[in-house]
Amino acid sequence: MKVGRTLVSAEEIDTALARIGAQIDVEYEGKDLLMIGVLKGAFIVMADLARHVTVPVEFDFMAVSSYGAATQTSGVVRILKDLDQEIAGRDVLIVEDIIDSGLTLSYLLKSLRVRYPASLEVAALLVKEGIQRAQLDVKYTGFTIGPEFVVGYGLDYVGKLRNLPYIAVMEEDD
Ligand code: PRP
Repeated sequence: MKVGRTLVSAEEIDTALARIGAQIDVEYEGKDLLMIGVLKGAFIVMADLARHVTVPVEFDFMAVSSYGAATQTSGVVRILKDLDQEIAGRDVLIVEDIIDSGLTLSYLLKSLRVRYPASLEVAALLVKEGIQRAQLDVKYTGFTIGPEFVVGYGLDYVGKLRNLPYIAVMEEDD
């Protein structure tokens, strides 16, 4: 496999994050915003989105891992690293690089909702098209994409390529 065509350029990503950051500034004014990045993929989008936000904000991270093939049916996700702080009464914004099947997000929403945040919303740079995500309410979306295998800007191919400053499509070797 090799890095193929650019799907979303660095400039397009920055424009989208500036748009989302401006929305966050309006909607979280006077609130107690806590942005939660879902490791590892979200570390880059979280860092760049945060720099477009000017309202007071704190940060935390979670690391989750799917149970492999079983996830497709059970939707069970294992928490590898939980939050460092309580979220009761806080305005929580989950930040994701990509929502694919939606199972990770659906599990996260379920496990955070029972901790009684004042509000719980989602920002995702990429959302893959698909009927299984119809019921997931993603408030802030950068781009809706097709079923391509994408890398870069936090997204990996066998652990590598997360540092690519844009989103590219992986292609078969010639
Ligand atoms: C990716 C991404 C989401 C999840 C989305 O993480 O960051 O957390 O997959 O997939 P889903 O909608 O089908 O559940 P991944 O498990 O690849 O881990 P990583 O961020 O450490 O690369």
